[in-house]
Amino acid sequence: MTSSFYVRGGKPLEGEITVRGAKNLVSKAMVAALLGETESFLTSVPDISDVRIVSELLRVHGVKIERDKEAGTLRMDPSNVERAHVADIDAHAGSSRIPILFCGPLLHRLGEAVIPDLGGCRIGTRPINYHLDVLRNFGAHVDKREHGIYITAPDGLRGAKIRLEYPSVGATEQVLLTAVRAQGITELENAAVEPEIEDLIAVLQKMGAIISLRTDRTIVIEGVEKLNGYRHRCLPDRIEAASWACAALVTHGDVFVRGAEQKAMGTFLNVLRKIGAGVDIHDDGIRFYDTGEGLSSAAIETDVHPGFMTDWQQPLVVLLTQANGISIVHETVYENRLGFTSALNDMGAQIQVYRECLGGSRCRFGQRNYNHSAVVNGPRPLKGAEITVPDLRGGFSYLIAALGADGTSQIHGIDLIDRGYESFRDKLTKLGADFWEE
Ligand code: EPU
Repeated sequence: MTSSFYVRGGKPLEGEITVRGAKNLVSKAMVAALLGETESFLTSVPDISDVRIVSELLRVHGVKIERDKEAGTLRMDPSNVERAHVADIDAHAGSSRIPILFCGPLLHRLGEAVIPDLGGCRIGTRPINYHLDVLRNFGAHVDKREHGIYITAPDGLRGAKIRLEYPSVGATEQVLLTAVRAQGITELENAAVEPEIEDLIAVLQKMGAIISLRTDRTIVIEGVEKLNGYRHRCLPDRIEAASWACAALVTHGDVFVRGAEQKAMGTFLNVLRKIGAGVDIHDDGIRFYDTGEGLSSAAIETDVHPGFMTDWQQPLVVLLTQANGISIVHETVYENRLGFTSALNDMGAQIQVYRECLGGSRCRFGQRNYNHSAVVNGPRPLKGAEITVPDLRGGFSYLIAALGADGTSQIHGIDLIDRGYESFRDKLTKLGADFWEE
């Protein structure tokens, strides 16, 4: 366990780093392997702690895993799936929300599943009501007990007509992972259609599933009796790529992010262009650089895909503290994802948060006492401070702020960043950052 991480800011990040598979696809593709009758093989798998957690959860359910961290390959053999002890699930699940997605595959394979107390970043209440409703729609019985939720499907699972109240990424994945082997047809209205979900659909189709996506964000799944394993290369991590882009720009640097893919990052790239950041798009990656002309402010609103994704919001807010003028940020996906701004203010930023919906539209958090809009007044020089990582993206955003600040920052809880940023220490070294651990 790292005691403390120190960053001496003010050095431009320069050079090249590589991003591999998306954290938010890899874990779901790993769960999908449970549905196959033969081995699955995943490539471009990043070495992040979420992959380690899901590997352990698969192992305790009898899946054999072979992993080459450096090559980024993962072989999963689900031919002997078995019940796991609740204590083992609990021990490995600790900091992840992934166990909830094991339900559909385990119900198909074993007729039962257990969801322990869930972790994940504290960026809102993050309830699981949509997931439980979805499972009930398929005919599962949900029994909430003291140490977890027990789910059974004694009569098997049947396709259903479902409409999500909000296009939740996780609930859409829950439907996909359950419907592919349910009896009959499932129609899901108001589905989330993030690129990671499309990639999961690609994985499932490789396994033998029949899934179509309509233009109105309805997904139709025709259940099949049997699925095989798959071979798949994960789509690149667009959140990691955007985070390094902001780090490059906040430090007035110049970084080529190899592996960053334009298609899934269009909305983010538009915002960077509009505020005057240097963006050169290539087939094998994207270069982000300071043009020397200064940045202008922006008004952004986070949304489901193809909107501006919520996970880009935190690193972008740090960048906006360095832009000229007043920026407005309206967070509409999570009710509590702006708490991290108070530490930025301690570092010299000028960010005010509001309960009102500022910007274009009214969202479901308006008038409900959630500080979910921010006004950022820039540019403000940042100074080093002692900070504690609040959550994964907020933590990386503090790291960005520390890299751009005058003086030294001390960051506590840096290990949380390992959940989603592969070898970030090596990448910082490669880009010339000045940091050390004690
Ligand atoms: N929600 C409910 N009930 C539910 C499920 C969700 O009310 O049963 C609400 C949430 O509280 C939230 C909204 O719906 O306000 C959207 O949540 P969603 O279900 O879409 O999020 P998720 O599936 O839990 C994934 C990513 C998040 C990312 C969101 C949105 C993974 C492992 N996590 O979470 O990623 O922010 O989609 O794109 O895929 C991260 O990578 O740091 C991260 C938090």
